[in-house]
Amino acid sequence: MPSHPEIPRHIAIIMDGNGRWAKERGMPRLEGHRAGAESVREVMESCIKLGVEYLTLYAFSSENWSRPATEVTALMGLLNRFLAEKAKELDRQGVRLLAIGQLDRLPETTRKLVQKIQEQTAHHTTMTLVLALSYGGREEIVSAARSLAEDAVAGIIHPEAIDGELFASRLQTAGIPDPDLLIRTSGEMRVSNFLLWQISYAEMVIVKTFWPDFRQGHLMDAVAEYQRRHRRFGAL
Ligand code: FPP
Repeated sequence: MPSHPEIPRHIAIIMDGNGRWAKERGMPRLEGHRAGAESVREVMESCIKLGVEYLTLYAFSSENWSRPATEVTALMGLLNRFLAEKAKELDRQGVRLLAIGQLDRLPETTRKLVQKIQEQTAHHTTMTLVLALSYGGREEIVSAARSLAEDAVAGIIHPEAIDGELFASRLQTAGIPDPDLLIRTSGEMRVSNFLLWQISYAEMVIVKTFWPDFRQGHLMDAVAEYQRRHRRFGAL
């Protein structure tokens, strides 16, 4: 079967298993998230080196708000630290930051930090780091449908003009190519409300490794697995 040796343009990752990683070590869950933030740093660097154009990370789902307040606060703290530390580096490396999700639900400090770095790095082209924060795929689709319905009611568009392309242009990922490779760590076989529209034809690689242990070598293995696949997009 023909393989395709190219590097995926867009890699999306469901970072899972921080809690179990910590539990295995008799540590509090926060330690798992802290180690997970290190994996984020390493995987991001590896993607830049590989020439990946878009890296989307599921950092906080809309469902994650129902976790204990202490864990939510700790995750936001880690995120703030990551953003504050990385702001200059992203700029230096030519990485553009983009956040998707219901950003108005984020604490003000986080929201402002995200906004500031997005503005600072908007012109960069080496790689786009997309952080999914307070993100839910269904919510994103509903919001796109609502915006099209509003335009239809206002007479700006005809319902017949709504096609896949127009729909995708109302998603928060408008202008970003769909993920080629979707990685999920910790062995769970679920999509968990992540990029529901965009992953239609993504190659999925599910690895048993918990996210805090997922480093450069694991990323290379996932890319190699992707390169062995034969993508058909529904055709023969
Ligand atoms: C899943 O593990 C992970 C999360 C809910 C959060 C991901 C956050 C990070 C990796 C750290 C901060 C992010 C950045 C971008 C610096 P889990 O808690 O669901 O693990 P479990 O299923 O084993 O309990």
